[in-house]
Amino acid sequence: MKNDSYLVLGNPIAHSKSPLIHRAFAEQSQQDIDYDKRLVPLDSFAECIRQLQSEGIKGANVTVPFKEAAFQIVDELSNAAQLAGAVNTLSFQDDGRIAGDNTDGIGLLRDLTKNHKLSIKGKRILILGAGGAVRGILKPLIEQRPSQVMIVNRTLSKAEELVTLFAGLFDLSSGSFESLVGRKFDLMINATSLGLQGKVAPVPDGVFADNAVAYDLMYGDGSKAFQQWAGQQGAKQAYDGLGMLVQQAAASFSIWRGVQPETQAVIDYLRSL
Ligand code: ATR
Repeated sequence: MKNDSYLVLGNPIAHSKSPLIHRAFAEQSQQDIDYDKRLVPLDSFAECIRQLQSEGIKGANVTVPFKEAAFQIVDELSNAAQLAGAVNTLSFQDDGRIAGDNTDGIGLLRDLTKNHKLSIKGKRILILGAGGAVRGILKPLIEQRPSQVMIVNRTLSKAEELVTLFAGLFDLSSGSFESLVGRKFDLMINATSLGLQGKVAPVPDGVFADNAVAYDLMYGDGSKAFQQWAGQQGAKQAYDGLGMLVQQAAASFSIWRGVQPETQAVIDYLRSL
């Protein structure tokens, strides 16, 4: 009998680490599955999904730039996907329906709390950026009961929209980078795309509290400038988002296979490559 097949869909997709990660999880949990990557033309996401259904694919991860398109096409949305406004995990059910979930937020939270052993409760959190990624991570962070969560963004209106969207769950605040002067935070999460240009957002000096931690949602070269800057600014630790990548994959794997993989060995393996 043919193995159950899974895929990651994106554009670009060549450098995706998802196949390596899921194959490592499959080996670890002794599951016979196939996991590949597929480049989807920018205007053909819906067509690709129909094709996957005809191929009998069991599930797919969705990455940039299709997470919002995936949100639109699914038949069922998890609560996390609903709040995120985006889907990164598709499950193709036997009755032809497609379920959509979003594991990015839980991936970040588990990397922070399990891999890095950080407690969020009572902490002052600052988020740089207000794009799709931020919308996806807010709920799991809020549920840990931080003392405050502030979102700063170049385009202030986008930060304000997120404050409004989550108003029923938490009293978030928003502001400009300049408004950070004189304020202190215990955890700073970089969700801007500036790292791709080797740059860091214009955060004023002195915002890291004692023992503060900096976390970049990006990993690899894109996270280097922020991590270096955070160290110079006195952050006790600066982490990249590789653990989040592995943890979001683990949560997807668990949705599909009913097994929660062990992540640290896979994170160590990716760092060794
Ligand atoms: P994602 O889906 O990963 O969140 P995105 O929606 O493109 O990506 O968001 C990118 C984030 O980086 C935004 O918060 C963006 O700020 P704007 O909303 O003002 O565009 C931020 N960003 C990108 N380039 C920036 C720059 N040069 N200076 C400051 N912020 C920048």
